[in-house]
Amino acid sequence: MNYDFILVFLLSIKAESMSPNISLPRKVVIVGAGAVGATFAYALAQDGAAETICLIDNNEKLADGHVADLAHGLPYYPSVSIYRGDSQDYVDAQVIVITAGSAQRPGESRLELLKRNASIIESIMDDIIEVQSRAVVIIVSNPVDVLTQVALDHSRWPRSHIFGSGTVLDSARFRYFISKEMGVDVKSVHAYILGEHGDSELPAWSLTNVAGVSIQKYVESKGRGDEWPEKSQRIFESVKNSAYHIINYKGATNFAIGQAMVHIVRAILRDSHSVLTVSYQLKGEYGLKDVCISVPCIVSKHGVESVLTADLTEEELQALHQSAQVLKESLKSLKGEG
Ligand SMILES: NC(=O)c1ccc[n+]([C@@H]2O[C@H](COP(=O)([O-])OP(=O)(O)OC[C@H]3O[C@@H](n4cnc5c(N)ncnc54)[C@H](O)[C@@H]3O)[C@@H](O)[C@H]2O)c1
Repeated sequence: MNYDFILVFLLSIKAESMSPNISLPRKVVIVGAGAVGATFAYALAQDGAAETICLIDNNEKLADGHVADLAHGLPYYPSVSIYRGDSQDYVDAQVIVITAGSAQRPGESRLELLKRNASIIESIMDDIIEVQSRAVVIIVSNPVDVLTQVALDHSRWPRSHIFGSGTVLDSARFRYFISKEMGVDVKSVHAYILGEHGDSELPAWSLTNVAGVSIQKYVESKGRGDEWPEKSQRIFESVKNSAYHIINYKGATNFAIGQAMVHIVRAILRDSHSVLTVSYQLKGEYGLKDVCISVPCIVSKHGVESVLTADLTEEELQALHQSAQVLKESLKSLKGEG
């Protein structure tokens, strides 16, 4: 008997039965009302894409405070219902965004912190599964790629329904730094950071363009080809160091990630088929298997619809594989196999 075929068949039935119901309200549940969750809620309220925003946090007073503060702004932004909820709110949510996390304790190793955050994600997933939610779940908590894999392994949901915010924020930073260097509107710069949301990420220069003109051609047309190798390296370093830099100044990053989350969630609520570098479990794409990592994906009301297979250079592909290896090692150490 072909068990692989039966497994694929059963999973496809499960994926079908989990397709977000058209009748679900445009309801977004945000789990974790800290700096990121609260800022995302504020940006989402202003955007108008959601009908309902529900905040959940272990710290109920914090969530109540944010809800009241946000609700008082209602006269000035689109109609939206905002309240503090609980796990019953997962039932009819269209999107659940998990920003819950724990900060590193004094003397705590990265692995210990990872284990604590993994168990937070697992317990939230248990609550989501228990009420048979059909929401698309987006992980934002760090380390986002590993925690996305944890959520998938724990829930056994189809991969389309659980993904991480990945390098959507890093790609926005990349576009920003290129636009500053080039003196051109950031909206005309198309560029992606791929790989881990972290130190092993890579810039996909081969996909980078200004209004369709490859970045290499663009800099040459400006007579800046000679300085580009050094400048491009500096741009990437700025992207990679952004989080460290901001956290050094203010303790957390929250505005740009809040805005990036609105962009991702809007793609689901509006079924816009946007190309976003979310952290998605690959199953052979780019020669990678069973690792959640950022590559360009098409996002719609079904979650991740498909992976865009871009023509990366050999060097970029190799860097993507190296980044995947870093993530696999991290997952192994979490499982005690490292
Ligand atoms: N993926 C990205 O691009 C990106 C960017 C910025 C921050 N982050 C990550 O987002 C996470 C949140 O960052 P932050 O600055 O908002 O942290 P924070 O400490 O301000 O907020 C975290 C919140 O989670 C809550 N929480 C903890 N366990 C919970 C649980 N089981 N259920 C409900 N709520 C729970 C806490 O009470 C707290 O309010 C961190 O892991 C951070 O590293 C990711």
